[in-house]
Amino acid sequence: MAPKSIATLTKLPFLVLLVIFASSQAYDYQFIETNMTLYFQEYYAGPNATVNTLTGIPGNDWAFDSFGTTYVVDDPITQSLDKNSSEIARGQGIYMTSSLDGANMQVLISIVFTSNEYNGSTLEIQGRSLQAANVREVSVVGGTGIFKFARVIAKLETLNVDTSTFYALVQCNLTVLHY
Ligand SMILES: *[C@@H]1O[C@H](CO)[C@@H](O)[C@H](O)[C@H]1NC(C)=O
Ligand SMILES: *[C@@H]1O[C@H](CO)[C@@H](O)[C@H](O)[C@H]1NC(C)=O
Ligand SMILES: *[C@@H]1O[C@H](CO)[C@@H](O)[C@H](O)[C@H]1NC(C)=O
Ligand SMILES: *[C@@H]1O[C@H](CO)[C@@H](O)[C@H](O)[C@H]1NC(C)=O
Ligand SMILES: *[C@@H]1O[C@H](CO)[C@@H](O)[C@H](O)[C@H]1NC(C)=O
Repeated sequence: MAPKSIATLTKLPFLVLLVIFASSQAYDYQFIETNMTLYFQEYYAGPNATVNTLTGIPGNDWAFDSFGTTYVVDDPITQSLDKNSSEIARGQGIYMTSSLDGANMQVLISIVFTSNEYNGSTLEIQGRSLQAANVREVSVVGGTGIFKFARVIAKLETLNVDTSTFYALVQCNLTVLHY
């Protein structure tokens, strides 16, 4: 068989060339909408702190309202308000004060499900949280397991802060579109 000339090859439609590098398939799956209300049980200081200061800008205060301050987080997440109720997930990741005026925080958190039907699946929260707002709307950029290809919006609201025990209760309402 004669080799194809370059001239022939360059006439191939762009789409055909693409198929050489990536294969695609059409799905007719329907998205399912699931609403969830979860509670982050957060201790921001004390011996069992679940949020810890990791670093900040040298010479500046390291605080929630100070640009560059970075925290590492591993909060228990429950399905009910009660901090003694059983854990269904962990909220693990990073908070970083990301605006010069200290108002905004970049939230990079994986919700790692540890029980119930979602066990082993994750949701990835990533976005700007306007710290002073009662309800902070943050994007969820994806997920794994049962939530693969998920599209989500998260609404975070701090319901309770107890400064004597360094405790904060954050309600997280998720609207998840998944297969
Ligand atoms: C989920 O919550 C959204 C926003 O509150 C609402 O519009 C929607 O109807 C709810 N969906 C289900 C399945 O309950
Ligand atoms: C910290 O956790 C340990 C181990 O779970 C527990 O014994 C202790 O009472 C906790 N301390 C506080 C202040 O909650
Ligand atoms: C949660 O547990 C602690 C000790 O484990 C107890 O002192 C407290 O009363 C409990 N809180 C609720 C709301 O049950
Ligand atoms: C969740 O999954 C892990 C790992 O697969 C397993 O070890 C654990 O027992 C599961 N937990 C529950 C409550 O199902
Ligand atoms: C979150 O959901 C709860 C019900 O599960 C509701 O009472 C609350 O108003 C919702 N919060 C927001 C900010 O939508």
